[in-house]
Amino acid sequence: AAEPLVLGIETSCDETGIGIVRGSTLLANVISSSMEEHARFGGVVPEIAARAHLEALGPAITAALAEAGVGLDEIDAVAVTSGPGLAGALMVGVGAAKALAVALDRPLYAVNHLVGHVGADVLRDDGTAIELPTVALLVSGGHTSLLLVRDLVSDVELLGETIDDAAGEAFDKVARLLGLPYPGGPQIDRAAVGGDPRSIRFPRGLSQAKDLERHRYDFSFSGLKTSVARWVEQKRDAGEAVPLADVAASFRESVADVLVAKAVAACLDLGVPRLLLGGGVVANARVRELAAERCAEAGIELRIPPLALCTDNGAMIAALGAQLIMAGHAPSGLGFSADSTLPV
Ligand code: KG4
Ligand code: ZN
Repeated sequence: AAEPLVLGIETSCDETGIGIVRGSTLLANVISSSMEEHARFGGVVPEIAARAHLEALGPAITAALAEAGVGLDEIDAVAVTSGPGLAGALMVGVGAAKALAVALDRPLYAVNHLVGHVGADVLRDDGTAIELPTVALLVSGGHTSLLLVRDLVSDVELLGETIDDAAGEAFDKVARLLGLPYPGGPQIDRAAVGGDPRSIRFPRGLSQAKDLERHRYDFSFSGLKTSVARWVEQKRDAGEAVPLADVAASFRESVADVLVAKAVAACLDLGVPRLLLGGGVVANARVRELAAERCAEAGIELRIPPLALCTDNGAMIAALGAQLIMAGHAPSGLGFSADSTLPV
């Protein structure tokens, strides 16, 4: 059979993503972000995100069809993120996907957002296919999860996740207390240039022997954030200047160190010589650098999809839908709901 032409819809957070793929070939990846509307609140406001999806979806679908050079009637199937994510935001995408599927009389596939990040890897155009099993580290403003992927569509295991803030959220919160604008990740990355990452020893969350017993693959960033806040406050109280580059570099080092250490530990523990990265925090220069260094040392193959496929997007959802179809899975029907805490 010909490879299926799938339209994917992603609305779990602040990005309205519409992607179109044919099998594992990327045809269109249109993203409309409401990031700017959230900036003055210092984080994503669910109600604003949902409303923005409602406004952006129609134009994004039109733009994606034009980019792919296909007509709506040619679409073989629709795939949509049904969770996890912001409930109201998810509902807008799920509603649109159902309407499309009914109108076109095509099958609809509900997919998991986190697994979608893993599925993005099949869209790389370097001709290499992902080998399985792989460990996947997914880090964004909304999630920080470590997964063991044995099969892209039917065997994904959650090894661990953050017990408080997501890594991107920690970047955003620390940027805010340093007086840097939202989103904070790129700001801190920039501010850290020239800073000494060893100048301040910020804590590594859930990395001490006692934590590792229960939380070997879990993450925690709220203690780190508090520690940075206290350090900066003490400087300010003492009337001293805050060395921005050193604070940014030291904070970034702590996050990168913990993320990479736990991901590499999982690979070694499980005997899986492959690590896939995904999520917006993968844009972080130090996270990429440290992952490359430690994976090379440990003999682990590191895979990082292009950034446009790492951040939230509809193409990865379409790609996962196509994988489901090609593996012979039944469609989801029209009775499913959005699930903000959908497990993998
Ligand atoms: O995947 P993404 O676009 O989607 C959402 O979570 O909505 O990730 C956005 C997150 C934000 O928290 C942002 O601060 C963080 O990724 N981020 C970064 C960098 N670029 C974006 N964090 C650290 N370093 C960066 N260079
Ligand atoms: Zn995501």
